[in-house]
Amino acid sequence: MAQQTILLAYSGGLDTSVCVKWLQEKLDSQVATLTIDLGMVDLESIQQRALQIGAVEALSVNGKETFVENYVFPALKAGAMYEEQYPLATALGRPLIAKYLVEAARKVGATAIAHGCTGKGNDQVRMDISVGALAPDLKVIAPVREWGWNREEEIEYAKYHNIPIEEKQNRYSTDENLWGRSIEAGDLEDPWREPPEDAFAWTNPINMTPDEPTYFEISFEKGVPLTLNGETMGSVDLVQHLNHLAGVHGVGRIDHIENRLVGIKSREVYEAPAAIVLHKAHMALESMTLSKDQVRMKQRIAQEYSDVVYNGLWFTAHRRDMDAYIENTQTYVTGKVRIKLHKGTCYIVGRQAPKGLYTHELATYDRGDTFDHRASEGFISIYGLPVRTQAKNQEEILD
Ligand code: ARG
Repeated sequence: MAQQTILLAYSGGLDTSVCVKWLQEKLDSQVATLTIDLGMVDLESIQQRALQIGAVEALSVNGKETFVENYVFPALKAGAMYEEQYPLATALGRPLIAKYLVEAARKVGATAIAHGCTGKGNDQVRMDISVGALAPDLKVIAPVREWGWNREEEIEYAKYHNIPIEEKQNRYSTDENLWGRSIEAGDLEDPWREPPEDAFAWTNPINMTPDEPTYFEISFEKGVPLTLNGETMGSVDLVQHLNHLAGVHGVGRIDHIENRLVGIKSREVYEAPAAIVLHKAHMALESMTLSKDQVRMKQRIAQEYSDVVYNGLWFTAHRRDMDAYIENTQTYVTGKVRIKLHKGTCYIVGRQAPKGLYTHELATYDRGDTFDHRASEGFISIYGLPVRTQAKNQEEILD
């Protein structure tokens, strides 16, 4: 009987390299790999590596633009920050990775999809649920979850099978894409300890940041960032550019005790310079263009939306329903925001919107004021009526 083919999500790291051999050996299968670029991935060398270890085919896909436009920007418009801190880089990448895996599995005629997620993280949940939604007929295999080895055992297996391992072993577990870099484990597991400087790769420590601030402008159209300093940029370029610009100023470091879906509290460190800047800028423009009620409703949706993304429920009607609501709120979120970066902080220093609700004649204390001061008297009288009634009839409340 012909061997079955398993399609493995391959990053080129130790875990997934060992997976190639393990799947061949344990499941008597041939392994095809797919490497997905959601930012900063050297596809060619990773594909070479997969073939060298014994993959029958090493596929790759550049998913950067799709990632930014169909996953990152909707989350930006939603204001999605898990537990108000984490812009969800890893979590947003997983459903797209699952989607590409399913497409590739069809192409190579695979009967199963394999990924390198461990058994105690959120990523396994996101991957299994997303593949299950897109292709219920495909089996999902998670070798790392099954074998339960520690790092030493993995390295031993790799050496025994002549799997090339990198000389310099990373002291942390990291994952990165255009929307941010996630760093966990190692010294970070002590929540009392300040993250060591070597945990960071995208952001300068404050003592290395420029003494002079940088000012720039971002324009948005219907909630989507379009230009930087007036120059129209592709979505990927814009995000990349901001990661660099804000990273230089030390903006975007996050240190979070996070509640994982699997019940664990975990210390997670992130670098997300572009995400921090864009969320702040987007929110500033919303504060000019949305009513108080719209802002408040959106904040409630933002929390639900982040939970849904974090918990691996991207491919659901619930998420799409929220997207439809959010999209409608963005109708007038057009305009520009002026930003200042300095010593680890991102300040919004200016905002303007052609259809904004900020009305100078109403806000001003100077000449030209059109607000009807006298009308306030009647307003307060009616607004305060229940307060006066209660105070009169239930005098104890005044204690
Ligand atoms: N805690 C983050 C999340 O659940 C980051 C996970 C990072 N994943 C990794 N393989 N290092 O989205």
